[in-house]
Amino acid sequence: MKVIVVESYEELSKKAAELLAEVVENNSRATLGLATGTTPIGCYELLADFCAQKRVSFKNVKAVNLDEYVGLCKSDSQSYAYFMRDKLFDHIDIDLNNTYIPDGMAGDLEGECARYSEILDEEERDVQILGLGSNGHIGFNEPRTSFQSVTHIVDLQESTIKDNARLFDSIEQVPRKAITMGISEIMKAKQIIMLASGANKAQAVHDMVQGVINDGCPASILQTHPNCIVVVDKEAARLLDK
Ligand code: F6R
Repeated sequence: MKVIVVESYEELSKKAAELLAEVVENNSRATLGLATGTTPIGCYELLADFCAQKRVSFKNVKAVNLDEYVGLCKSDSQSYAYFMRDKLFDHIDIDLNNTYIPDGMAGDLEGECARYSEILDEEERDVQILGLGSNGHIGFNEPRTSFQSVTHIVDLQESTIKDNARLFDSIEQVPRKAITMGISEIMKAKQIIMLASGANKAQAVHDMVQGVINDGCPASILQTHPNCIVVVDKEAARLLDK
């Protein structure tokens, strides 16, 4: 695990965008594992700039997302499908047919999980972007999720519902369930870029990087990934031993 501590969120976004752009520059047909949440937004804005400047093209790139809320349709502005179009896909030249995200409205949710796992088996990801839950989750794999897990339905923990309530009008509106890529599937990406920003991530960053590997902090498993880069700003890094 390589840890890069940067001064600010702006620097973190720049570093992440450069790393992702490099993957696409080296392989125009790359498959990118993408995340939603607040953390990667700055990186996505820069990727859109790179695309506008013709530095990178996503024309032949595939994108596979980590997770989706159960019960929100694609056109709902709180859905992750909407987020990805709003923050990235509508601003780059990617073919939407090459973008994958679990369907949180599927009638058969277990069937949808199996379908998504098959997609992940077929689409080898060159890189996976991750954000970090303040409780140490990756994707929506909450503490105590098995490291062997594959795509599954999750009951979101109270801390996650509270964290995400800032993005909704009220906490009652935050969905209680989600579909998430499993931890074993996250770990199959050739490279992982984990991003964490802000003081509320400091404990989770410490446990992820310097804690004992255990399912109480799902992100601690990243210590065993052969090519994982952690980019954190000073605030998020403040509990790391030097
Ligand atoms: C998002 C996801 C989550 C977030 C995490 C951090 O697709 O899977 O694990 O990355 O909750 O969220 P933010 O970036 O909003 O702090």
